[in-house]
Amino acid sequence: MNVSITVNGTTYTRDVEPRMLLVDFIRDQIGLTGTKIGCDTSQCGACTVHLDGKAAKACTLLSVQADGAEVTTIEGMANGELHPMQSSFWEKHGLQCGFCTPGMIMAASAYLQTNAHPSEDEIRHGLEGNLCRCTGYQNIVTAVQAAADSAGD
Ligand code: FES
Ligand code: FES
Repeated sequence: MNVSITVNGTTYTRDVEPRMLLVDFIRDQIGLTGTKIGCDTSQCGACTVHLDGKAAKACTLLSVQADGAEVTTIEGMANGELHPMQSSFWEKHGLQCGFCTPGMIMAASAYLQTNAHPSEDEIRHGLEGNLCRCTGYQNIVTAVQAAADSAGD
């Protein structure tokens, strides 16, 4: 099937198998490997992107479902300089191995669009679809809180 998906502002038209997942379109068809595959079963959140502005797990969607949509991946977050959420993860040591980090940043930045001043509990709840095997989560929560606070400055 022919699909056209705009990723980070560029429209890509490809002939794909109907069963191709959006995450495979992003990684294999257009070569953006910042979006990770941790489980392929909708549990870990490593594949989280923005689909028309909302967080979505790209392993749970077929690429044909994203036909005509606008997708943002981690590669599209920095605009000459790091996105404030990326800076916050960097400054607050919100990562160790980094495998979960693209998905965390995409989920967290989308979450702050829905709740600009979250409590710690709300951040934890907002990120419950994203797993991290390294950090114990505290520094991730601290990073998201700091990003929210700096956006309110
Ligand atoms: S790879 Fe999509 S949720 Fe784990
Ligand atoms: S930093 Fe390693 S999985 Fe989260």
